[in-house]
Amino acid sequence: MSEMDGLTIATELDRDVTKYPAEKRLKMENSSEEDPDMYNADTSSIMCMKSEMSKTLSKRQLKKQKQKEKWLAYRPVKRAKEKLKLRQKKLDARLNNIKLGPSRKELKHSKMLQSNCNVRIAVDLSFDDIMNDKEISKCIKQLLRCYSLNRRAKDPVQFYITNFGGKCKKEMEKHTGYMNWDVNFHSESYRDIFESKDLVYLTSESDNIIYSLEENKVYVIGGLVDHNSYKGICHQIAQEKGISHGKLPIEEFLEMKTRKVLTIDHVFEILLEVTGGKSWKEAFLHVLPPRKGAVERAEVFKEKLSTVSETQVQSNTEPS
Ligand SMILES: C[S@@+](CC[C@H](N)C(=O)[O-])C[C@H]1O[C@@H](n2cnc3c(N)ncnc32)[C@H](O)[C@@H]1O
Repeated sequence: MSEMDGLTIATELDRDVTKYPAEKRLKMENSSEEDPDMYNADTSSIMCMKSEMSKTLSKRQLKKQKQKEKWLAYRPVKRAKEKLKLRQKKLDARLNNIKLGPSRKELKHSKMLQSNCNVRIAVDLSFDDIMNDKEISKCIKQLLRCYSLNRRAKDPVQFYITNFGGKCKKEMEKHTGYMNWDVNFHSESYRDIFESKDLVYLTSESDNIIYSLEENKVYVIGGLVDHNSYKGICHQIAQEKGISHGKLPIEEFLEMKTRKVLTIDHVFEILLEVTGGKSWKEAFLHVLPPRKGAVERAEVFKEKLSTVSETQVQSNTEPS
């Protein structure tokens, strides 16, 4: 098989899955796995470039470059395989009368404006200066996930991204069309958009436990990826600014082997699931990755929960 065949298969599969019988498709997929070298796009121009580069690049850089080339050549094949798998899944579901989730058509109606959920969640992107490029990129990836989860929800939450500017905005601009997303982007701080009394800054360092989500509150998630090198920074900010703060009721339901500091998208997903009707326990067990080692707690504070009807969040010091 020639080197270009890998790419041809990708576009062919992409164009019309039904064109190939299942047996042939399987053969094509397997053949692409057995012969990874066929993805090497070593045309004469690339060879030329390579020899030029090898004069200037280190061994490590060359290795990285080679891996990137290989990946770029393989990517269309991988995408085609994924599409094929998805189509097959949809076909199976249709044949077996299984509902896979809301259709694209249904999702179009699932806008924040029409949502039955008025809970507001804001991601505070004011940490531009303390994140490096890699962390910024991770942060934006997590935001993409929040957006995509909200879009797929039957009743999306009212989603805000505040302090939107600088490096984070630049990174976001890589994702064309983001400005058309059903998200409220604001260059201003959450403090300029919402009333102070409505704000609840989420932070695992808070002593206040959030037992229920309220429609008149704005839950602020720190848009920060720092591997906890700025431990407690959001708690400190909330205290300094006199903003209410609270933590998720993780300890009330789970024992965790690791830290209880979660990523932005995990916090978002948990809140979204709870607003969608799941219990905290269900949401934690569904969202938290196995590596977090979360196990159900036997003694759930049922009594406590039944007596608490409102978010147990206390206001702190006077606003600065
Ligand atoms: C990766 S964490 C940032 C950790 C950062 N070192 C700090 O002290 O905030 C991202 C955000 O998720 C939210 N978060 C993470 N774990 C949480 C928890 N257990 N309870 C409430 N909010 C949490 C916070 O808003 C936090 O700023």
